[in-house]
Amino acid sequence: MRLLTTAVAALALTVGAQVATAAPVEIKFSHVVAENTPKGQMATKFRDLVAERLAGKVEVKVFPSSQLFGDNKVLEAMLLGDVQMAAPSLSKFQKYTKQLQIFDLPFLFKDMDAVERFQNGPDGQKLLRSLEKKGLVGLGYLHNGMKQLSANDALHVPADAESKKFRIMTSDVLQAQFEAVKAVPLKKPFSEVFTLLQTKAIDGQENTWSNIFSKKFFEVQPFITETNHGVLDYLVVTSAEFWLSLDEGLRTEVQKALNEAIAHGNKIAAEKAEGDKKAIADSGRSEIINISDAERQLWVNAMKPVWKKFEGQIGADLIKAAEASNN
Ligand code: SIN
Repeated sequence: MRLLTTAVAALALTVGAQVATAAPVEIKFSHVVAENTPKGQMATKFRDLVAERLAGKVEVKVFPSSQLFGDNKVLEAMLLGDVQMAAPSLSKFQKYTKQLQIFDLPFLFKDMDAVERFQNGPDGQKLLRSLEKKGLVGLGYLHNGMKQLSANDALHVPADAESKKFRIMTSDVLQAQFEAVKAVPLKKPFSEVFTLLQTKAIDGQENTWSNIFSKKFFEVQPFITETNHGVLDYLVVTSAEFWLSLDEGLRTEVQKALNEAIAHGNKIAAEKAEGDKKAIADSGRSEIINISDAERQLWVNAMKPVWKKFEGQIGADLIKAAEASNN
């Protein structure tokens, strides 16, 4: 009996020691932008909230500026278990679902409030699950902002963009958008954009104020046209395999921390859209062109036919629902 008690005690000690020394679940969070951006700040906040609330159980490690993976590789890496979370732009999911292409349709959302209404509504929430068949789970949307056009020359009307080379994200909709104004779109990773612009291998690109500022594109692009022609937002994503490997209580806590981090990131996104635009204007490096309503209408007329081209893949009803969020 004494022998048994000793054995049980020894076993309990071993198990106890194992529990005490079990390594926390590691979440590698990979992204491509600078830390002083909405996404960079969201990821940092998420890391800090998890450290505060789930110390010893979960640890988030953030890898900014494409240090770990570029957006074109990160989802493959996620499915292989090499990274657990990322927040690629919604334009970078077309290999996994065609429906998220809706966010790339030019001149669909009039502003970020409309984007927010659509994302929080039933159709937007349903889209979070559009990657499930591919083994990915959408955990939430994160804002960056509306896109502007930067270039070596002043762009006032679509004809000004003709024959110019523009870097785009990996999106067929964005490709069609630039082809619609007879420009030449080139799909390139975000990490290459500055050098491509600096060496004049390309003439321009489209992006948000915070990305144009934080990656210094404005220093090598003398003109930025304020078009607000599209949205650049993100999907925070994980793999189903990793997500389901967490026990339910932990999953709920992680999701809660993420939701708070996203709310924080969204607040920063709104502030940065204004602040970074002003910083660019104040720098004097790049002229910000405000187009007239008539000029803007020419861009709308040229680009909007792209919707029809992708209606079959995205769904006419979904496009209608997104349009309705403008009201
Ligand atoms: C990002 O904001 O994550 C990158 C956007 C881009 O590729 O232009």
